[in-house]
Amino acid sequence: MRRCVPNTALVCDLCGRKYSLLDRRAFCVCGGLLHIELPLNKAEELPVNKDSRSLWRYRALIPLPQDVEVVSLGEGLTPLIRLGRSIYNYKVKKAFIKFEGSNPTGSFKDRGMTVVVSLAKYLGFKALISASTGNTASSMSAYARRAGLLPIVLVPRGSVAGGKVSQLKLYGAKVVEIDGSFDEAMSLVTKMAKDVNGDFYVVNSVNPWRIEGQKTVAYEIYEEVGVPDWIVVPVGNGGNIYSIWKGFKELLKLGLISKAPKVLAVQASGASPIAKAFKSGEYKPVSQPKTLASAIRIGNPVHWYRALNVLNESGGYAVTVNDEEILKAHIELARNEGIGVETSSATTLAGLKLAVNEGIIHEDEKVVLIATGHALKEPEVLNNYGFEAIAVKNALEALEVLKNSMR
Ligand SMILES: Cc1ncc(COP(=O)(O)O)c(C=O)c1O
Ligand SMILES: [Zn+2]
Repeated sequence: MRRCVPNTALVCDLCGRKYSLLDRRAFCVCGGLLHIELPLNKAEELPVNKDSRSLWRYRALIPLPQDVEVVSLGEGLTPLIRLGRSIYNYKVKKAFIKFEGSNPTGSFKDRGMTVVVSLAKYLGFKALISASTGNTASSMSAYARRAGLLPIVLVPRGSVAGGKVSQLKLYGAKVVEIDGSFDEAMSLVTKMAKDVNGDFYVVNSVNPWRIEGQKTVAYEIYEEVGVPDWIVVPVGNGGNIYSIWKGFKELLKLGLISKAPKVLAVQASGASPIAKAFKSGEYKPVSQPKTLASAIRIGNPVHWYRALNVLNESGGYAVTVNDEEILKAHIELARNEGIGVETSSATTLAGLKLAVNEGIIHEDEKVVLIATGHALKEPEVLNNYGFEAIAVKNALEALEVLKNSMR
């Protein structure tokens, strides 16, 4: 018999139906999203495997059957970097960046992918499928190849950042380009996922196992700096904000913390259905989402109501930032801190500034920004910054130029 964490199941958010943890479906028959609730008792300390140098140190809290062979590339345990010279940091004294860009394929997606691909292989799937703005696709492709499975991705044509396209080429993904937005690609995958007997497994964050991996960033932050007052998260589809919150709620259940952080959701102003719903109380999808931050160019987030729940439950807040503010923060992180992130991740610094100015976040509060992806994902953005190379004829001239630039 395969052994699972006892008393756990896949549970539907909408109708409460329960399925075996090993069910091959990604959605409930009613169409609702599934989640996993761990039966956690109070613990003296976080159960960690200190020998593991990846997020699998939290294996005890990831409810896969014991005999699952893990498909790993060493994901997780990303750097938590204290902000120093950023100008906003003069207002907020204790701000950190959790640099998820240092994961194996350059984004936080690897956390969920290691878990869901491990299960996919165990269940005998031959192919994996996802809709993606690029990072899910890159991550899925790497882990699929590691597991010996076929990666099939649906992406919006012309709107995937160059670094991610290169990764898809490298891993040899089967790429299906949709003449439409991410939302349309997602809705296609959702329809296909209703075929539970298919040979492919949907590994978008609608798959509850993705969440079980992504939640581990909360455990890491807890181990590194305890409970921050605020976690600042860029929001696209809403899967990550929901995962991080799940991680903190589990720490509460374990009795390891007595209060969870407040969560600040940051969206790009041209793609901000969740931030708008937070303010107006009414959720309306955005039909043509627009922002240069292509990773969060999402108009109809699958997890929209979960993201709103996180903001309500945590006593959090939501802000929107425009492309100009995003680029300013992007450059500031690079040039004041040496941290190169995706534009979607730079929204966190821009959002922090707004929240401080609005009096939502206070200067003595401890803040962690979740920098979800690596700067190298977007060569087109970086190349726009440019520089003027100075041509010299010999070493002497080069020395002269150097002396002048030091002045
Ligand atoms: C770099 C980056 N940041 C943020 C997000 C948004 O995460 P979520 O869709 O889980 O809200 C994504 C999603 O693709 C991403 O790739
Ligand atoms: Zn249901």
